[in-house]
Amino acid sequence: MAKILVTGAAGFIGSHTTDYLLGEGHKVVGVDNFRTGRKENLATALRSPAFALQVKDVAAPGVLADLVAAERPDAIIHLAALVSVQESIANPELNFSLNVLASQLVAEAARLHGVGRVVFASSAAIYGDAAERPIRESAEKRPVSPYGAAKLASEDLLLGHGACYGFTVRCQRYFNVFGARQDPASPYSGVISIFARNYREGKSVTLYGDGRQTRDFIAVGDVARANALAATRPGLTSGAANICTGRATSLLDLAGIFAAAHPGVGAPVHRAARAGDILHSLGDPAAAAVALGFTARTGVAAGLAELISGQPVPVLP
Ligand SMILES: NC(=O)c1ccc[n+]([C@@H]2O[C@H](COP(=O)([O-])OP(=O)(O)OC[C@H]3O[C@@H](n4cnc5c(N)ncnc54)[C@H](O)[C@@H]3O)[C@@H](O)[C@H]2O)c1
Repeated sequence: MAKILVTGAAGFIGSHTTDYLLGEGHKVVGVDNFRTGRKENLATALRSPAFALQVKDVAAPGVLADLVAAERPDAIIHLAALVSVQESIANPELNFSLNVLASQLVAEAARLHGVGRVVFASSAAIYGDAAERPIRESAEKRPVSPYGAAKLASEDLLLGHGACYGFTVRCQRYFNVFGARQDPASPYSGVISIFARNYREGKSVTLYGDGRQTRDFIAVGDVARANALAATRPGLTSGAANICTGRATSLLDLAGIFAAAHPGVGAPVHRAARAGDILHSLGDPAAAAVALGFTARTGVAAGLAELISGQPVPVLP
């Protein structure tokens, strides 16, 4: 069993990743400064003797290196970030500090203290509005925000350090992640958490444009499993892979699933399409299957049923 340091552990993906790792019998040291995460997300983890929480800022010089020196983890899963594209546009300096400098501090901590593996939370945002569909890892990278640019720069920083100093780096390019504990108040939290809140409160949702835009929605439980594989599967080599399903779901389809579960709520309201909105985003999941042995198991319908009911839905074997 391994000891894993998870940055951003109190966040949406971090808390699910932590729970998954603990369930697999690993030890987890979670680090978070509660910038956007919440202690309640770690309610289950905090009951485990295999979990320790460190309330610290990973972007502050020396903090991560000291922690890694004290804890000696086998792997670091680096999820802590400024996660809002809009906030990165409004505050590019802060984006640089939290999304680039912090990655350098992770690389440095791994180098100094012999950490064997670093897993990095990258994003489909590095592709920008790539024309290719489905998007393969080799697609042209054309980030269109400071957030996307920082994720791409961090991939290169970490991969270059790993190649030079001898640790394995896995860059996980998440597509649209959804599930419980996603904060609908965050501008980047995505359409599903906003739809879930509105339908729960009996309010119609707004669709910009015709609603035929499509996204590759991946359930957070699958993402947690992909992170655990990247951190612990023996024999992995460095590289980057899309963490996606390879299936496209339109916003109209989403609204239809929610409407069926909430019959009293009014039909979606259509507004003019927003400038700059990407029409279609679809990932190719083949590389993750080869590199990590990862394939998403939870379809959108099952994932939404779980989110709406609050009950786990059995997944395909
Ligand atoms: N949710 C998605 O669909 C998605 C898609 C692509 C990439 N990502 C990436 O996945 C990662 C996790 O995202 P999330 O959706 O769980 O967001 P989140 O906001 O729920 O989680 C981020 C966590 O990092 C913590 N954090 C931020 N700055 C910190 C710092 N300096 N020191 C310590 N902790 C800090 C926050 O408090 C929070 O708990 C991020 O790197 C994000 O960019 C998410």
